[in-house]
Amino acid sequence: MKDFGGKNITFGILGCGTMGGILFRVIRKAFPDNRVLLYDKNSKKGFILSKKSKLACVSENIHELIKKSTILILAVKPQDFLKIEKVVAEKNKLIVSIMAGVSIKSIARKFKTKKIIRAMPNMASGFSSGVTGWTSTKYVSEKEKDIIKDVFNLMGASYYFASENKINDVTAVSGSGPAYFLYTIICFIKSAIKLGFSKKEALNLVKDTFKGSYVLANKVGFSVKNLENLIKQVSSKGGTTEVALKFFKKKKFEKIWEQSVMSAFKRAVELSKKYN
Ligand SMILES: NC(=O)c1ccc[n+]([C@@H]2O[C@H](COP(=O)([O-])OP(=O)(O)OC[C@H]3O[C@@H](n4cnc5c(N)ncnc54)[C@H](OP(=O)(O)O)[C@@H]3O)[C@@H](O)[C@H]2O)c1
Repeated sequence: MKDFGGKNITFGILGCGTMGGILFRVIRKAFPDNRVLLYDKNSKKGFILSKKSKLACVSENIHELIKKSTILILAVKPQDFLKIEKVVAEKNKLIVSIMAGVSIKSIARKFKTKKIIRAMPNMASGFSSGVTGWTSTKYVSEKEKDIIKDVFNLMGASYYFASENKINDVTAVSGSGPAYFLYTIICFIKSAIKLGFSKKEALNLVKDTFKGSYVLANKVGFSVKNLENLIKQVSSKGGTTEVALKFFKKKKFEKIWEQSVMSAFKRAVELSKKYN
């Protein structure tokens, strides 16, 4: 049994693209004394990352990466994962996948191993503001979970779920979520421009309103009840806010959100079937 608390851990990253690069940065920060092995189809990408740390090096092939790493992180696209030939990993090897839609069963089949963590980060993870929902098989020890939790927490917030089914839900909420908010911001900016503001004025007004709303939400405590009360406080009878909110309700804004999130969930389920 390897010492999972110490320098004996060698991290392996398969795929040195956007997420592989983020994970490399985070691992260097959380475990500065540990070795990191990198492997990408395009060796240049691995070499660029490896130059950033004395303890990082590029593996010659996927077999070497798997053999020499204690914790193997899968950061390739799901369709590329399917093309990888079956490789038998050591029984004790911990495999961490951040691939969307690829089930634990499929990973277990490929590597013939049972120690698997499956996670779904989001696009803000590179700025320590991401959200990662994750789960694991029962073969992963608490110590191993703690190590990986440290990595995820450096990418922002992380939430553990006992059931793998929850990963599709996470994908529909926090996985795709940043794009929902960004789209809402875009709609808001466009509305302000339609009112007659210049692009710059609209951007500034919306940006700072967004910032202030987040501060307000945290100030009152992040719960539906508190947020509803806050809205009630700021919308006086017959006032502008009330009129706008009534219009949102008339157009069934809540239903639109519900159905959009549901469609993302259904797509996550479809993709899971495709990749398994
Ligand atoms: N980006 C996100 O915001 C995000 C969020 C949550 C989860 N994810 C998941 O994270 C994973 C990686 O996403 P990404 O955005 O980082 O993708 P990416 O930027 O395309 O990185 C993947 C890298 O893996 C390389 N690769 C392909 N096949 C390989 C193989 N057989 N062996 C070694 N390397 C190989 C790719 O090379 P080529 O480019 O030459 O093919 C590419 O450099 C995906 O499964 C995705 O579902 C991403």
